[in-house]
Amino acid sequence: MSQETPMQPFAVDIDLASGAMADPDTVITRRASDMRGYYADADALERIIGEQHDPVHYEVFEKDIPEAPGHLRICVSKLYPGTVGRECFMTKGHYHTVSGTAEIYLCLQGRGFMLMKTKQGACLAERMVRNGMVYVPPHWAHRSVNTGEEPLVSFCVYPGEAGHNYGDIVEQGFPRRVYLQNGEEVIA
Ligand SMILES: [Fe+2]
Repeated sequence: MSQETPMQPFAVDIDLASGAMADPDTVITRRASDMRGYYADADALERIIGEQHDPVHYEVFEKDIPEAPGHLRICVSKLYPGTVGRECFMTKGHYHTVSGTAEIYLCLQGRGFMLMKTKQGACLAERMVRNGMVYVPPHWAHRSVNTGEEPLVSFCVYPGEAGHNYGDIVEQGFPRRVYLQNGEEVIA
C-alpha cells in the first residue's frame, strides 16, 4: 500500500516589527497600473502611474504551502501609503473561492482599515493598527486600506483550500470607500 510522503516541516523568520519575511518563496507585486478600475478618481491614478513611473502599490510575501485542505497558508501583506485623489491606497480585495473559509490578519505596522463586504450588501470596516488582529469570517470579501504615512503590514493566515476570487469587486467595488479629508479618515 503506497503512502504519500508527508510535507516536511519548515521554519521562517518574520521580523515582527517590520513584517519582513526572510527568504519568501513567492512575492506578488501589484503596481499602480494593476489598480486601474478600482479607485473613484481614475485620472488621479493615471497621474501617479505617469509621474511616479508606475510605483509598487502593494506586495505579498508567501511561502510555498499547498493550496489544499488541512494546510494553513501564510503571507505578509505590505501596502504602501498614499492617496489616489483623496482615496487611500488599498488592495484589490477578494472573496475566497471556497467562500466558507475565514482569515486572520495580524497588523504589524502602520494603520488603516480592513474593509469587508458580503454578497448580501453588508459592509463593515475594522481598524487595523499595530498589534491589532482582525478576524475576517467566512463569506466576507476583504480589502486592506492604508490611512497612515508608513506601510500597512499584516501577517495573514488562511485555510489552504481558500483560494482567491475577485468576483464582483472589479465591477462593483465595495459599498464604501476610505478617504483622507484634511488629515481625517472618512469612510463614505
Ligand atoms: Fe483572503
